[in-house]
Amino acid sequence: MSIALLYERSEADEMGIKLTAQKLGIELAFIPFRKIAFSIFNNSYTAKTKGKNFTKIIEDSAVILNRAQSKNRRLQAGYLLEILGKKTVNSSSIEFICYSKLRTLLHLWKEGIPIPKTVFIPCDTLDTLKNGKFLHNEKDLADLFQEALVLDEGIIIKPDSATHGKGMLLSNNREELIFNIQETKPSIINPIGIVAQEFIKKWFFDLRIIVYKEKAKTPVCHPVALARGGLKDFRTNTYLGNAVFAAHLPSNIINLSIKSGKALAKGQETWLFALDGMIDIQDKKVIDDNQLRIELEKVLTAFEPVRKIKAEKYRNNEFTSWNYKLEKSFQNYMITKPYQKVKNIIDESIEKNKEHIIFHEANSCPEFWEHTRLIAGINVAIPLIKGAKSLL
Ligand SMILES: Nc1ncnc2c1ncn2[C@@H]1O[C@H](COP(=O)(O)OP(=O)(O)O)[C@@H](O)[C@H]1O
Ligand SMILES: [Mg+2]
Repeated sequence: MSIALLYERSEADEMGIKLTAQKLGIELAFIPFRKIAFSIFNNSYTAKTKGKNFTKIIEDSAVILNRAQSKNRRLQAGYLLEILGKKTVNSSSIEFICYSKLRTLLHLWKEGIPIPKTVFIPCDTLDTLKNGKFLHNEKDLADLFQEALVLDEGIIIKPDSATHGKGMLLSNNREELIFNIQETKPSIINPIGIVAQEFIKKWFFDLRIIVYKEKAKTPVCHPVALARGGLKDFRTNTYLGNAVFAAHLPSNIINLSIKSGKALAKGQETWLFALDGMIDIQDKKVIDDNQLRIELEKVLTAFEPVRKIKAEKYRNNEFTSWNYKLEKSFQNYMITKPYQKVKNIIDESIEKNKEHIIFHEANSCPEFWEHTRLIAGINVAIPLIKGAKSLL
């Protein structure tokens, strides 16, 4: 019985998992989930693409690393394979929680982990009545949000299941709030109602923290986080062109991260999360924004060679040589003065405000090969593969 990697498209993360498995001497089977027709009938099943029969491969796989990128496809893949008798990492019960920001926050809140004040109203902006007319709910929704959250401090509206900062809207006055509520429509990334959240004054960065557990071992939090930062937008996702830094984690944040992992894993034997957290820095900034902006511009210039290599197209058989170039470019970036300077600002800010950590999201299938591995120094493929192996 072996381990299989289920994926949609073979990209850097998936090729990185393959390469890591080779280095660890572990054989992986591959399941290109999107291309397979699953048939169920009379107590048996088949799994076939147009050119290949995957039924035996799936039968022979005991544990599946579920790396389908879209949340819906991942949830369906995990559920389907668990019904076929497989163990999955992460499990579909974990995927169900992480699919929704609200469900994630509910579990963290229940365990007493600090989260942003969050308000969920299961009502859509616009209702269609039986007579075909529309009922506008935006003013009522805005009133309810304003009752619970302080508008002057900022209210964020976020699609419950979105990623990459998509659909994230910040309002600072009533007009913006009404406009932003009108912008939210039921969709695959926002199935019901509206989720709003207090705006956390995190200054310019947030943290991505890796926590994981192998069967029969204690959970681990990697002591260095990936900090993502910039002043152009309140969203710090790397996808939006923000810069990346290694951030040292104080022990209280490590402990809270492990507690968060356990709260979301709900007793599963093996799991891995990339937690998103913010430090509520408020006005305790160690340098002023204008100075910081100049430093961040220099950092982005130093990052340019990395960005160029990241954007290069390469064939599957060129992955190893591309990866080598990528590693070198990150090493060069991390020894530049602007990088070091901003990294120190981040480390100092975290240490001074470590009691003000707030967790806002958990990613169950994080991207890791480029930023997290080369900046925070953890190859997530290793705990993933070892976690899968511990379930065999
Ligand atoms: N309550 C908040 N206060 C301040 N900034 C926030 C808040 N929620 C999200 N953000 C910013 O927006 C980014 C995206 O939000 P997040 O909830 O992580 O959704 P996703 O990454 O799935 O799009 C975060 O990385 C953070 O920088
Ligand atoms: Mg996020």
